[in-house]
Amino acid sequence: MKNLRFRLYAIVCITACLTAACSYSGSTPDIIPVPENVRMKSGAFSLDRDLVVSYLSEDLAQAAGYLAAELSGMSGQDAALLSGGNGDIVLRVTDAVPDGAYGLDITGKGITITGNGTDGVCNGIATLRQLMCIASLSSGGGAVTVPCCSVKDAPEFGWRGIMLDVARHFFTVEEVKDLLDAMSFYKLNRLHWHLTDDQGWRVEIKKYPLLTEKGAWRHFNNHDRMCQSLEKSTATSSFRIPEERLAVSGRDTLYGGFYTQEEIREIVDYASARGIEIVPEVDMPGHMLAAIANYPWLACGDDLSWGELFSCPICPGKDRVLDFCKDIYSEIFSLFPSEYVHIGGDEVDQSNWETCPACRARMKEHGLESTSALQSWFTHEMEAFFNQHGKKLICWDEGIAGGLSETATVMWWRSWSPDPVAEAASEGTPVIACPNATFYLDYAQDSKSMGNIYRFDEEMASMFGEHSGSVIGVQGNLWTEKVPSAARMQHMIFPRLLALAELGWSSPDVKSFDGFNARLRTHFAIMDRMDIDYRIPDLEGFYDVNSFVDSAVLEINCQDTSARIFYTIDGSIPDMGSAEYGGPVPVTATTDFTLRTFGSDGRQGEVVRTQFRKESYSSPHAAVDAEPGLLAQWYDYAGNLCSEIETAKLKGKYMLEDVSIPEAAAGNIGLIIRGYFDAPETGIYTFRLFSDDGSVLRVDGETVIDNDGAHSPYEKTGQKSLGKGLHPVEVRYFDHNGGLLEMKVLDRNGNVLSPEEIWVVETE
Ligand code: ACM
Ligand code: ZN
Repeated sequence: MKNLRFRLYAIVCITACLTAACSYSGSTPDIIPVPENVRMKSGAFSLDRDLVVSYLSEDLAQAAGYLAAELSGMSGQDAALLSGGNGDIVLRVTDAVPDGAYGLDITGKGITITGNGTDGVCNGIATLRQLMCIASLSSGGGAVTVPCCSVKDAPEFGWRGIMLDVARHFFTVEEVKDLLDAMSFYKLNRLHWHLTDDQGWRVEIKKYPLLTEKGAWRHFNNHDRMCQSLEKSTATSSFRIPEERLAVSGRDTLYGGFYTQEEIREIVDYASARGIEIVPEVDMPGHMLAAIANYPWLACGDDLSWGELFSCPICPGKDRVLDFCKDIYSEIFSLFPSEYVHIGGDEVDQSNWETCPACRARMKEHGLESTSALQSWFTHEMEAFFNQHGKKLICWDEGIAGGLSETATVMWWRSWSPDPVAEAASEGTPVIACPNATFYLDYAQDSKSMGNIYRFDEEMASMFGEHSGSVIGVQGNLWTEKVPSAARMQHMIFPRLLALAELGWSSPDVKSFDGFNARLRTHFAIMDRMDIDYRIPDLEGFYDVNSFVDSAVLEINCQDTSARIFYTIDGSIPDMGSAEYGGPVPVTATTDFTLRTFGSDGRQGEVVRTQFRKESYSSPHAAVDAEPGLLAQWYDYAGNLCSEIETAKLKGKYMLEDVSIPEAAAGNIGLIIRGYFDAPETGIYTFRLFSDDGSVLRVDGETVIDNDGAHSPYEKTGQKSLGKGLHPVEVRYFDHNGGLLEMKVLDRNGNVLSPEEIWVVETE
């Protein structure tokens, strides 16, 4: 257990404390998410003794037990539990504060946590846990004491979630519990558990045993091979597939795992003690191949092959299939006490339904005019069943297409399709916001990721306006195709989870991104102590390509000051035996640096490549007859390489004011955008190119930014030394489903140049 490590450390601190004095600065501790109101007082409460945790209502027993375990972990001394009565720490419920809200009072004599329901009390416990950790960090080996204070705090959103996909790769009971521990520490209160998908079925269903006997196991698939390849190409151990996930039988090796119903109940209880509700998802009618492969009658016919993009779905035309779905959900309802259950409903290839006699008969019977209407009918049918069992249905935003019922909740994931969601919200449909461009935690992080999550409330305000009240929460989603291990899971989730926590919990009146970043430094140390393999933040101080004329300096900053930075200049991936960065490195010739950070425990950060390019100011192009703007050519390109765009058919030409996707372009998009950059003066210019998927920038025929290949939203940066005047520019870009493209140009002082001043195109 991870707590063990913290526990041992705390014992050392407390032992050392017997001879050392402890003190507090009196400033507000670095709590994340930032509380609404904290009043610091003089004095402190010592944890360095046997403590009694008392709880004033029986439904707090589990939470009290969890707090007692945390206290024991912290001090090495047992904390006793007392039902009723007057302990050193008293837990009580009240309905005098809003849902999830709490008050925490610490005096020299005792601690009281008063919360609305168990979740309110758990939120108070989370703040106390953070105060304990912060105190432990700053105790300098002295006694752990928490400062006297009074905290009044309430959540901004009722739903503060993380989605964990355990189908693409599996995570053990202990690994899920570790995530729950961290979630409760940061006041996240929903684990949306994606339990089934094409690649694996992870929850035992007694009535259909093959689902886990066979459906939980597979031969290595493309996801596993991708992880193996990434382990090698990036020399990153967290991409390694854990051996304990493999079942070897004779010559056959299978990957997999599942949760027994007993284990599910254990995890649900564990979450509940921490104020977290687990919301299960059994994704249907698509993403069901793990079930269909073992019960083939679930499909429309014999053809179980994949469509163009998505797997073959179940057949909503057959009554037997509907009964199967209801049987599954009956068992799910009995395992999960949560108010909500997620039906999935995303990415359904409905082409089999067009020709299936049972589906056609169903459509005729109910007057359904399209297969989308058939999916909608299926969702409504299932929702009625959910409601009969006292459950509320959630579905991915595709479910809006055929009209959602008044009791359903929509989970908005398609960033590129906000309008139907805003419309549904305006009609009162509750929305959970997790648009992929911002909230998909499996996407690579760049320098903007944290800020984009943190400031998402501003975007929501402009999108939902007066209907913002329909947004009941926010959520980060981790799909695990490229996440085979707990270490990788943590690398992808942290520290973004902290920005999400503050977005979800803290009132806009007390939020500040600068303040958050300052507090984050303390939390790097806390996460280190909790043995969380958080991603070491981006290295700062350079671009992907840095242009210089005479000489330059590689000067690196990292927000996590405990990280160590190693580098090579021969292209090889650095290890801890490579040159260690100890301060500014002078550069006088073109040099390729490969950098890698390592945490204080030796864990690996990402591999970063940066080129310092020595060049002279390139001469401008001769003057041309020009008009403002850029010219875009849209090709019907379905591939994944910018250099191949013009192998596809040209679909249209468009004048643009700036680098962007023409409004008319949709579906397969391959763009070639050309024009001139009119450099206002001789100098070094910085280009920032953000895209989903790939993009490439060439200036004066030279590649300045290579952001090519299929990828999630990602920004790359490059510089070029340019003489005053015109320079030919070409931006290439491709995407196949709702992409993003944006470019900014900055002058030597870091000012963003306005598009109308810099882009010109030759008049035809
Ligand atoms: C999803 O990402 N298909 C919900
Ligand atoms: Zn069918």
